[in-house]
Amino acid sequence: MTKPTWRIEKHHPSVMTLVAGTSHRILEISDAHWDNKHCDRDALKRDLDEAKAGGHPVIMIGDFFCAMQGKWDKRADPKQLREEHRGSRYLDLLVSTAAKWLEPYAGCLALITYGNHETSILAHHQTDLLQRLHQELTHFKNYKGHLGSYAGFLKVQTQKSLGSSGGALNTVIAWNHGYGGGGEVTRGMIDHSRTRSQAYADIYIGGHIHRRNSDENILLELDEHRNVIRRRSQWFLRSSTYKQETGAVENDISGWHVEKGRGERPVGGWWLEFQAERAGTEDRRYSVRFRPVPTWA
Ligand SMILES: [Fe+2]
Repeated sequence: MTKPTWRIEKHHPSVMTLVAGTSHRILEISDAHWDNKHCDRDALKRDLDEAKAGGHPVIMIGDFFCAMQGKWDKRADPKQLREEHRGSRYLDLLVSTAAKWLEPYAGCLALITYGNHETSILAHHQTDLLQRLHQELTHFKNYKGHLGSYAGFLKVQTQKSLGSSGGALNTVIAWNHGYGGGGEVTRGMIDHSRTRSQAYADIYIGGHIHRRNSDENILLELDEHRNVIRRRSQWFLRSSTYKQETGAVENDISGWHVEKGRGERPVGGWWLEFQAERAGTEDRRYSVRFRPVPTWA
């Protein structure tokens, strides 16, 4: 088990800096729908255990909670309600059981941000599930995470070399939980094109439609000081869910998702891996290389 050396600073609800320390990997996940009976908690635990073992920070981009089983909710389905959430204090139970489940990972959680399932509870019931979860997590002394808005910018500072204290390089991540339905044919890929015209960043991360895909874009730009053309890489990443959608896990393919003609979805998110390197023998300046690696399928 590696002791975490990263830290996160909150400047505003939508502006954060993650000082990566000696860890050059971040686990990015979304749409855990942790309280849904069909959440694959074994997979979620496996990914969080990997982050914990390596001392890597975790960022969760919305819909950690599903919160659809309240008695007011037309979408409620007894097959998706867990035993521990039965009773008259549904929303309270979501918060207390989630904090308890997350306790072993409290030291890994860097950033938790809102998804539409959390903002929907806030809008309809005037209670903020994530704020309450965050409050519970602060009782664990190794928790040093922050809550973020639905969308925002996360600046990642990568050290030039492991163990060195001098010099860090910035990579800017734009996060947005997501929107829309993600068509069966386009699979949300056209949203990446929309995103390009809305915010400027090195890496774009989102979730919401329960798909996992990526797209790399290369921009050419002028290095005004050296009068040479430079390639700049942009990554568009969509993390999927931990919810098994169709009920196939119980050999019972039924429910809202199935009746809407939607299929089973991937489980998991992305490892974001950074490495600072000199550009070459001619150009000794450092730059950050990046690669996304899917969590185990
Ligand atoms: Fe969502």
